[in-house]
Amino acid sequence: MTLLEGSIGVEDLVLLEPLEEESMLKNLQLRYENKEIYTYIGNVLVSVNPYQQLPIYGPEFIAKYQECTFYELKPHIYALANVAYQSLKFRDRDQCILITGESGAGKTEASKLVMSYVAAVCGKGEEVNSVKEQLLQSNPVLEAFGNAKTIRNNNSSRFGKYMDIEFDFKGSPLGGVITNYLLEKSRVVKQLKGERNFHIFYQLLAGADAQLLTALKLERDTGGYAYLNREVSRVDGMDDASNFKSVQSAMTVIGFSEEEIRWVLEVTALVLKLGNVKLSDEFQANGIPASGISDTRGVREIGELMGLDSKELERALCSRTMATAKEKVVTALNIVQAQYARDALAKNIYSRLFNWIVNRINESIKVGTGEKKKVMGVLDIYGFEILEDNSFEQFVINYCNEKLQQVFIELTLKEEQEEYTREGIPWKKVDYFDNGIICNLIEHNQRGILAMLDEECLRPGVVSDSTFLAKLNQLFSKHSHYESKVTQNAQRQYDHTMGLSCFRICHYAGKVTYNVNSFIDKNNDLLFRDLSQAMWKAKHPLLRSLFPEGDPKQASLKRPPTAGAQFKSSVAILMKNLYSKNPNYIRCIKPNEHQQRGQFSRELVATQARYLGLLENVRVRRAGYAFRQGYRPFLERYRLLSRSTWPRWNGGDREGVEKILGELSACTSEEVTFGKTKIFIKSPKTLFYLEEQRRLRIQQLATLIQKIYRGWRCRTHYQQMRKSQILISSWFRGTMQKKRYGKMKASALLIQAFVRGWKARKDYRKYFRSGAALTLSSFIYKSLAQKFLLGLKNNLPSTSILDKKWPAAPYKCFTTANQELQRLYHQWKCKKFRDQLSPKQVEVLREKLCASELFKGKKAAYPPSVPVPFRGDYIGLRGNPKLQKLTGREEGPVLMAETVRKVNRSNGKTSSRILLLTKGHVILTDSKKTQAKTVIGLESVAGVSVTSFQDGLFCLHLSEISSVGSKGDFLLVSEHVVELLTKMYRAVLDTTQRQLPITVAEQFSVKFKESNVTVKVTQGSGGNGNGKLSCKKKGSHGLEVTV
Ligand SMILES: Nc1ncnc2c1ncn2[C@@H]1O[C@H](COP(=O)(O)OP(=O)(O)OP(=O)(O)O)[C@@H](O)[C@H]1O
Ligand SMILES: [Mg+2]
Repeated sequence: MTLLEGSIGVEDLVLLEPLEEESMLKNLQLRYENKEIYTYIGNVLVSVNPYQQLPIYGPEFIAKYQECTFYELKPHIYALANVAYQSLKFRDRDQCILITGESGAGKTEASKLVMSYVAAVCGKGEEVNSVKEQLLQSNPVLEAFGNAKTIRNNNSSRFGKYMDIEFDFKGSPLGGVITNYLLEKSRVVKQLKGERNFHIFYQLLAGADAQLLTALKLERDTGGYAYLNREVSRVDGMDDASNFKSVQSAMTVIGFSEEEIRWVLEVTALVLKLGNVKLSDEFQANGIPASGISDTRGVREIGELMGLDSKELERALCSRTMATAKEKVVTALNIVQAQYARDALAKNIYSRLFNWIVNRINESIKVGTGEKKKVMGVLDIYGFEILEDNSFEQFVINYCNEKLQQVFIELTLKEEQEEYTREGIPWKKVDYFDNGIICNLIEHNQRGILAMLDEECLRPGVVSDSTFLAKLNQLFSKHSHYESKVTQNAQRQYDHTMGLSCFRICHYAGKVTYNVNSFIDKNNDLLFRDLSQAMWKAKHPLLRSLFPEGDPKQASLKRPPTAGAQFKSSVAILMKNLYSKNPNYIRCIKPNEHQQRGQFSRELVATQARYLGLLENVRVRRAGYAFRQGYRPFLERYRLLSRSTWPRWNGGDREGVEKILGELSACTSEEVTFGKTKIFIKSPKTLFYLEEQRRLRIQQLATLIQKIYRGWRCRTHYQQMRKSQILISSWFRGTMQKKRYGKMKASALLIQAFVRGWKARKDYRKYFRSGAALTLSSFIYKSLAQKFLLGLKNNLPSTSILDKKWPAAPYKCFTTANQELQRLYHQWKCKKFRDQLSPKQVEVLREKLCASELFKGKKAAYPPSVPVPFRGDYIGLRGNPKLQKLTGREEGPVLMAETVRKVNRSNGKTSSRILLLTKGHVILTDSKKTQAKTVIGLESVAGVSVTSFQDGLFCLHLSEISSVGSKGDFLLVSEHVVELLTKMYRAVLDTTQRQLPITVAEQFSVKFKESNVTVKVTQGSGGNGNGKLSCKKKGSHGLEVTV
């Protein structure tokens, strides 16, 4: 808050001390002289016209004020505009900005500043920008057609303007609606000294190029036009020509077509030209004065511009058709009436053109009906006027200002004080002037001045301004705010300023004397029907459309509402509109009458401050509360400030508010008061504190929301990604497996195909040429084998087992088979051979086999023994019964009977013996004796030793336990040693199941009696075994045998 520190005077008059008119003016002056033109009264902005461009506007300042709250920076119109816009945007409250003040106090400038601020801070975007442009560009167009230089203001608005700017929920402008009030159309035909007509006329003449001027049949010189004030055609600091270009381009921006712009200029031109229509006195044949047009060229040109026959126009201007029930009577107009008709036509055309322009702009900027809008209204209406000669226009203008003052009173002074009482807040009443009585005086439906005026206008009989005045005098003779010569006289007052045809009203802003002359006329605002019909007949599309009542089909005898009634109803609508919105006041003050910078006229400002009720305003404000709000909306807005009320509060609204404020240090009991339904906050500071707290809290909450949202978004994103990843991977896997399966399937099919092919080929191979070789070769092979086998069969060698012959294999490949066959054949032959053998032969062969096993490869005597059959009986035992006796009791056959030589143990000499071998015994006997000498049981034979030579020497080793054994072993020589020993071996085996050990050695030990003799055998030179055997005793234990 920079309310005090470093400020010039006080920035808010609420802080003024002492609170008096003098100090207030002083403060305003001090500030004004220091170029501080804005001062607050609470939330009301007082603006003193600086009459100079101050460096306090523009984007930089807009940005600054946009950032800050109301009291943070110096008082400024931007601060007020910001509050209004923020409230509209964030509190969803429609706003209106009421700009009031005298003519030249700076209302229009203020409204433009507000609009430019809002345009700068509201949303951006192509569409929004074009809407903004259209809204902003409506100003130069309306100013060109509705503003004029007056003695009080070089750019005075000669119409009232209320503009609703409509926004969407985001605060971006959508469009708007302009309502215009009562254009001062009398200015079209007449201006006061030092004043000008509407700007557009001068702009058109100065700015149009020659071609356009020719087309519009105009000349550049303003002096040539009767409707233009010849003395003042230029205004200092105003460039009409360049303004004309701006107006043209503004119209294009708004959306006027080229054709429409041309129409507008044509209508403007013909209004100018109408002023130049010269009327002259004429007389009808019966001597009645009439009028005529002396300047036919001018009328013709107007006719051409209008697309109307000049004769038709002339007739309409100079005559009047009176329609009665039966007939139509045409009467000629005298020159005064004709001039009146001409001027009336010009005024009407111009004012209707102005209305058309406003409607056309509205068409461009209007917003679709379906959209929900927020509205900010800006009211820039003509200021309170006190002229030397005040007429009907001033009367309605001042009435309008009276109504606006009433709004101000109602909303700020009356309503505020009533509210405190209603809410039960201790309050000391502040007196103020309530202008309701003046409003009533003017607008009362039956007894108001406007109602009286309408009554006079409608009343049959002779009606004049003076009868109207008389009526007023009669009705308001006792009214405290009404004065006239008659009422003054009645009260014996003398006032030379009061004319006879005048009445005076004590307005809130001062007394104004109105001259009733032409009140009736202006209120009637009637245009002769001939003129409207003529205009309707014109071919000019725009002009024609301005006079719809000229259409004979639509002609109605019903009177249109009077100007006063129209104005009253439009003011009523305006008031209703303003009451429905949140008001923001800009009180404009004019510092001097001379439009001079730096001049501050105390009296002038004092008057304005008085009628504006600034002081009362300050008093109410000071005693009252800066802010109030119902508990419910307050709770809704600030409940986020307390943990108890946020996010949910279940108690009552008031308790909730108490809870919130109780927790905030700045909200002391002096600062806040609890009304019945509302909370009242004393100073804006507290409200700003609350707002700041709320802003901070919102930031926190926004962060929280953002955090949660971000978390949620990331989670969702992650889950989506995860899902996608799963989906992708499942698809990928699926695809992979499909591919793999496809490959496997293809491979399986390939293998199947190969197998089938292979099978088929196998089945069909025989049919294949390539298989033929194999078949052929196997066939050849088979046939060769067959041939070979058959050949073999037919050519088999003899079945004699001794025959080893075997045909050779015809081919190498049969070699193995041939050998095998040979082997098989041989085995078969052997088997055959064996099968045909008798048991005896078998026995013989067994013996032979046994001999082979025992001696083959061991003893040299074996091979010669092989081919010799074993006869067994070499001594003719069968035929010799003597010998047979030798066997004694021995049963069974004699296996071997032969003559052997026995080596004598003592000398090594040999002696012959007969040896018999039976199944159980070896019997040795002397060949001469018939008695057995020695019988050796086979079980006593422990073993046999032989030499490896061809000799027949062998030793029978006897076991010691036998009876024979005690004599010692037998050393014998046999000629059939192989046969003998074989048979003995077999007999031992048969009898004792013992394998007789037969040792083949060159040296062996023989037991003789008790001593062992080592027999050493050597081969003699004969070496065939048949030679003589010689034994030589070598000591007692050695015996050398040579064979
Ligand atoms: N804030 C301002 N800064 C500079 N000059 C200003 C400012 N306000 C007003 N003026 C000057 O005062 C003149 C009159 O202002 P403006 O036209 O706004 O008055 P007004 O109140 O609209 O009068 P009227 O009721 O006649 O239309 C402007 O043309 C301009 O020169
Ligand atoms: Mg203005």
